[in-house]
Amino acid sequence: MRGLGFVEHGGLDRLQFVDVVEPVPGPGEVRVRIRAAAFNHLDRFTLGGIPGVPIERPHVLGSDGAGVVDSVGPGVDGWAPGQGVLLNPGLWDGTCDACRAHEESLCRNYRIVGEHTQGTATDFVVVPARNLHPRPATLGWPEAAASPLVFQTAWRALRTTGALRAGEQLAVIGAGGGTSTAVVQVGKLLGARVVVAARSRAKEETLRRLGADDFVTFDADHPLDRVLWQASQKQGFDVLFDSVGAPTLPKSVRAVARGGRVVVIGATAGPLVEVDVRTLFWRQASIRGSTMANAAEFQEVLAHLAAGRLRPLIDSTRPLEQGLEAFHRLESPDLLGKVVLTVP
Ligand SMILES: NC(=O)c1ccc[n+]([C@@H]2O[C@H](COP(=O)([O-])OP(=O)(O)OC[C@H]3O[C@@H](n4cnc5c(N)ncnc54)[C@H](OP(=O)(O)O)[C@@H]3O)[C@@H](O)[C@H]2O)c1
Ligand SMILES: [Zn+2]
Repeated sequence: MRGLGFVEHGGLDRLQFVDVVEPVPGPGEVRVRIRAAAFNHLDRFTLGGIPGVPIERPHVLGSDGAGVVDSVGPGVDGWAPGQGVLLNPGLWDGTCDACRAHEESLCRNYRIVGEHTQGTATDFVVVPARNLHPRPATLGWPEAAASPLVFQTAWRALRTTGALRAGEQLAVIGAGGGTSTAVVQVGKLLGARVVVAARSRAKEETLRRLGADDFVTFDADHPLDRVLWQASQKQGFDVLFDSVGAPTLPKSVRAVARGGRVVVIGATAGPLVEVDVRTLFWRQASIRGSTMANAAEFQEVLAHLAAGRLRPLIDSTRPLEQGLEAFHRLESPDLLGKVVLTVP
């Protein structure tokens, strides 16, 4: 079967359609006929090559997918061909200490579909049966594919890792990304005052519609830390969500409230930062890392999606044949939500 991916790691010029063998479900696994797949910034990193993550090539990209159960492997109960599903891209072994404590995203052997295994930008994907969930009636195929990775990440990052409580102030750095557009919604749902800080006003209207109470911009003349401090009404933020990294994180930290939490889930623009630790100990603040979510958190956020309280923002939807153009959209400064592929 044909999928969008690469043979050699590298830049966007390495992205191509590849031929891979149709996967067959093993014990406990299910094969899903993909109807829609969605990209994440992770796919860009996987294409480039992630140190310490050797993968089989040719490789098909895509962590997010939704589709129809096609066949089930030995020992699978409860799933039958024809059922509409979305998949949780987090893969855990189910046997280590973390898994036994129901902290699946802390699994010693944690992996992600499309990063460590063949992905969803193709016709069929095989995943463990426990990774499947019925597609909520509130979500069409593109929305069902666009939701799982970003919303589970946003949910754990704010509710668990950030311990965000109603009435607190949340700052989100960056406006148009898949995770930022999910985090704004989750922050609002949890009852926070949500402020988005971005490099331009272009995406303000959309982000306010998603729930942002305020929208501020920063540049060389208006440094992020000062802009945030003013926007927090000179209190500092209880939680700052920063997935940008090097250019912003040191300044985000300077805008943390006493007892506040800076949550990092990624470093899109660079991983190495210098932070003034005096801010951390004097304000008794912390920088906390978060990745994906455990199985219970996935169920919780899925319930909010099913009830219509959360909804992915979709930047664009294209058929798989236009996958190259779709992927390039991830690099666009205009990106506003999730990039989705449909598989007819
Ligand atoms: N640990 C996890 O579980 C996990 C899960 C999901 C994502 N991630 C990571 O989180 C990051 C975001 O992922 P994504 O899929 O949401 O990415 P994305 O859709 O490509 O969005 C990138 C975001 O970064 C912002 N941005 C980039 N450079 C910036 C800069 N110099 N200054 C300010 N904002 C900047 C953009 O803001 P504008 O729109 O305002 O330009 C946009 O909101 C990636 O590094 C990804 O690998 C980690
Ligand atoms: Zn485990």
